[in-house]
Amino acid sequence: MSENIYVIGNWKMNKHLNEVTDFCDKLNISLHDMFALDNSSNIEVGIAPAAIHLPQMSSASTFSLVAQNIAAEENGAYTGEISASMVAEYSRYVLVGHSERRMYFDETNEILVKKLMLAYKYNLIPIFCFGENLENREKGDYLYIIKQQLEKVIWPVFSSSDFLNQNLIIAYEPVWAIGTGKNASPEQISEVHDYVRDLLINNIENIKDSVPILYGGSCNSQNAKSILEQKNVNGLLIGGASLDVNHFTKIVQIAHGLY
Ligand code: 13P
Repeated sequence: MSENIYVIGNWKMNKHLNEVTDFCDKLNISLHDMFALDNSSNIEVGIAPAAIHLPQMSSASTFSLVAQNIAAEENGAYTGEISASMVAEYSRYVLVGHSERRMYFDETNEILVKKLMLAYKYNLIPIFCFGENLENREKGDYLYIIKQQLEKVIWPVFSSSDFLNQNLIIAYEPVWAIGTGKNASPEQISEVHDYVRDLLINNIENIKDSVPILYGGSCNSQNAKSILEQKNVNGLLIGGASLDVNHFTKIVQIAHGLY
């Protein structure tokens, strides 16, 4: 369905400038070596650093940059915020709806709709994150919760003709798998990704069939292969394991070996 495979690291609130520089130097070399003989590769590698490091990285990276966040307002008196247009000067993608932003910064569906629209206005490709918490998983209503999360944000945006066929990436990140060392099993991931693929195809006319669906939550070099082998998994969104350049490179190599 999706043509590209994405391997994206989300550094969250980690790394100082010297560590960023070191990581970029090493990853640039590894990617150069990996793709030197194969420039037809369909692997898209990205890193989401803290916003303060986007300018430095944009001048020193051969991989794509992903912003971790944008403001829900376009510009003006919003002390401490960074707008979509500012981020777009450096970054190709932006995360929207990460569960940490929903949980710790009270980001509601209404806020996420505004962020998605601003991302499109400034030509950023959103990576929209969704996923159930442990309670929903244990109660068994996780597919319903996931449907709601998508319906309340993606549907309203794509029902407008202004956003016809816009690029979109979505990422299934079950909250109980984030930072816990307990990744969802390939079967659990497959169930949700197949469900979401059908949901998108059957409900939204204006959306491309090829919307990449990534998985995130305790991904590492041990589980990457079995997750990436699932039919509707088009890439990984990696937190902890993306902080170490050797570990992250290994995951990119695994993806490269599979596709
Ligand atoms: P971990 O890989 O550390 O579980 O984090 C996943 C995540 O939140 C990526 O956005």
